[in-house]
Amino acid sequence: MNTSQGFGFPRPSTDPATVARTEELPAEPVTLADDAELDLSVDEAAARVEQTLAALDAELVGLASVKRRVREIASLLQVDRARERFGLTSSRPTLHMSFTGGPGTGKTTVAMRMASILHALGYIRAPRVHVVTRDDLVGQFIGHTAPKTKEALARAAGGVLFIDEAYYLFRPENERDYGQEVIEILLTEMEDERGDLVVVFAGYPDRMARFFSANPGLSSRVPHHIEFKDYDHAELVQIADLMVAAENFRFDEEARGVFSEYLTRRMERPNFSNARSVRNAVERCRLRQARRLVGLNRPLRKEDLVTLTAEDVRGSSLFADDEGAAV
Ligand SMILES: Nc1ncnc2c1ncn2[C@@H]1O[C@H](COP(=O)(O)OP(=O)(O)OP(=O)(O)O)[C@@H](O)[C@H]1O
Ligand SMILES: [Mg+2]
Repeated sequence: MNTSQGFGFPRPSTDPATVARTEELPAEPVTLADDAELDLSVDEAAARVEQTLAALDAELVGLASVKRRVREIASLLQVDRARERFGLTSSRPTLHMSFTGGPGTGKTTVAMRMASILHALGYIRAPRVHVVTRDDLVGQFIGHTAPKTKEALARAAGGVLFIDEAYYLFRPENERDYGQEVIEILLTEMEDERGDLVVVFAGYPDRMARFFSANPGLSSRVPHHIEFKDYDHAELVQIADLMVAAENFRFDEEARGVFSEYLTRRMERPNFSNARSVRNAVERCRLRQARRLVGLNRPLRKEDLVTLTAEDVRGSSLFADDEGAAV
């Protein structure tokens, strides 16, 4: 990275000789003078972060408070880098996090974006998220847990370790449970100031709160708690439109209305999983569209292949009761 492009250095002269010399500068920038000025807006890393944040805004519907928190963390790291340039030493910010929210509220998706931001700002070595659950960490027999957990940590090193449904690590009813061993190993790793691993504990809010209050040592190493709220109906419709467009499909006008009605019904059913349910429903619409198109027995136009019709949506079992009425 050519740090002379901004972030602290005076802009390089346009004189070719000076430019050549500037490019030979060592990668480590010199400490800035006390009266130097640092323009955060010309930092290359900041530009990459801005791009990721803009994509987060554009590609993910709603999530206002999540987006705000992600921005805050990015600012924290940007200022930390700026302080470093002036030789102001401080401890590395602790960035272990918890992501709490219902199913399909975007936790895993945001973790990936967060990894890109942390990487752009030099906090982790790779924009990578290693997703694990209890079974990836806890062994079946005595002596198996530590190597398993250490292997997961090794795979996540330099990136983000995302522990889904983290509360399954803790089983207070069974005091011999190996999950406790995992928590202890994680704690040691998380306390390592020089470590370049960010641990994200993810799960449903109520169980997560219990998990943290039962493990205060862990809780105190997790300063960032980010809450993912359930989406409302209007947001789910918008998510459906985004998903459909991303796959080069579109709802025709009637289909869009029927899909909105589908969502109203689906939200009241058991196991409703926010954006994940929307994705599954869109997949099933595609399946019905394919069946319908093959059954047409006529040459197809691009328009046919792109369009999801009301019929493709109404095929859902949630509309089954209406069939008699519709005829
Ligand atoms: N705000 C959003 N806008 C657009 N798409 C979204 C949004 N939130 C989630 N999605 C999409 O919904 C799907 C589920 O999201 P994700 O897997 O991130 O949720 P999750 O909270 O991790 O769910 P789970 O708890 O079930 O693991 C993904 O395909 C994701 O792209
Ligand atoms: Mg997930």
